Amino acid sequence: MGFYPNAGSQLAFLSSPVWETLIEGTRGGGKTDIVLMDYAQHVGRGFKANWRGVLFRQTYKQLDDVVARSKKWFWQIFPHSKFNGSDYKWQFPTGEELLLRRFSAPDDYWDYHGHEYPWIGWEELTNWPTVECYDSMKSCSRSSHPGMPRKYRANCNPWGIGHNWVKQYYIDPAPPGTIIREYAKDGTSLLSERTRIRSFVWENTALMEADPTYVAKLASIKNKNKRRAWLRGDWDVVSGGILDGIWDEQSHVIAPFRIPSTWRIDRAFDWGSSKPFWVGWWAESDGTGVKLPDGTTKHYPRGSLFLIAEWYGWNGTPNQGLHMLSSKIGSGIKEREEIILRNLVIPGGTIVPGPADASIFDIENGNCIADDMSVAGVRWERADKSPGSRVQGWEKLREYLNNSAEQNDEPGMRIFNTCRHWIRTVPGLPRDEKNPDDVDSAAEDHAGDGTRYRIWTAQRGLVKVAISGS
Ligand SMILES: Nc1ncnc2c1ncn2[C@@H]1O[C@H](COP(=O)(O)OP(=O)(O)O)[C@@H](O)[C@H]1O
Ligand SMILES: [Mg+2]
Repeated sequence: MGFYPNAGSQLAFLSSPVWETLIEGTRGGGKTDIVLMDYAQHVGRGFKANWRGVLFRQTYKQLDDVVARSKKWFWQIFPHSKFNGSDYKWQFPTGEELLLRRFSAPDDYWDYHGHEYPWIGWEELTNWPTVECYDSMKSCSRSSHPGMPRKYRANCNPWGIGHNWVKQYYIDPAPPGTIIREYAKDGTSLLSERTRIRSFVWENTALMEADPTYVAKLASIKNKNKRRAWLRGDWDVVSGGILDGIWDEQSHVIAPFRIPSTWRIDRAFDWGSSKPFWVGWWAESDGTGVKLPDGTTKHYPRGSLFLIAEWYGWNGTPNQGLHMLSSKIGSGIKEREEIILRNLVIPGGTIVPGPADASIFDIENGNCIADDMSVAGVRWERADKSPGSRVQGWEKLREYLNNSAEQNDEPGMRIFNTCRHWIRTVPGLPRDEKNPDDVDSAAEDHAGDGTRYRIWTAQRGLVKVAISGS
């Protein structure tokens, strides 16, 4: 009885001298167990209550698997250890503590601000959509007790909403087992060190014996990319995002400039009440040059789209709405448009109605949201909701972003750097597992949807031109 690490990745992980270490690879290699064991190996070594750990997952429901796994081992190895089920906390007879916690959004950091945890772990790192949460807790990885090990640990498979950033951060820079070092700009002072260890299911002899069909189960996964990710631990799969390999903050996000009065400026709207609503103001180039903040003049190809301002109706928690009355949204839009016209548009320009979520035209009790908003003087066009329009919209979005490289004559898309909700939510939009050409509509997709509507309008405009010119 007791836990014996598998030869290979589990042993390497337990003995990694690098503060930030990830264990990654196929499913079933023993990554969950070994992260727990990495904490546990320092229990009963005299650190007592100073050896504090916290292990994160995104939800409490997901944590239940970790709870079951920790009970399986900890009660064998430390028969007098206690698990407090209401607080998700392990207490060891010699005073050490391991907290199992949910960390679902960047703001959760404030629950830990100022705390000291010499051991911090992240279970299934690719479940977090961005590096933000992971990064924020680094400041808590400390101990005022001298001689204490300090460890920042994580595990994951490829695939999932965070596939991209994990790949960029841990996988692309160097092969497994290599230390990735980041230096300050002066090239001499070392800022950080990290490494990753590669794990394979066939190292896990216990699992291979207990469940000889496990590998066959992985091999029978229908989705090709997911199968390659889980069976082979392959990071070169098309995972997570609909904009993977296309989004490039450097070329797509730009500093605001004033919009020439001849450009078309309109607004797009994705309605929401318990979910956020999103209003985006778009400017479309007619080829007239613009003065950039550095004083130069630039001509963007006719039809290029610029998101110049946005209003995100959320309550501060990702994907939670404001329950705002539509008449109030209408007057809020009017107020914002005065400011936009004053500050962002060369005098003479105007804002015209653009596309909105078709559901705002649905009549309920003799009234519809579109009517309520028109009282405030805000009118909309009905966006396309026909079958296939979603997939076509995402495809067009990719095309626009692809066209944004310098020296391209096709119309591209750029986002003013003030539109932080678009920048926060659109680049990482996850693919729908069942229909990889579409976005998973459970994601925070409101700015993305509003963008699709605007693109659809642009396409329709082009069609009109083609017809009248023929
Ligand atoms: N060293 C080990 N000895 C015995 N069983 C192990 C060992 N490592 C992992 N296991 C068991 O193998 C199974 C798969 O491990 P798990 O940690 O869930 O893999 P992963 O997280 O990589 O998908 C689990 O039942 C786990 O308890
Ligand atoms: Mg696991």
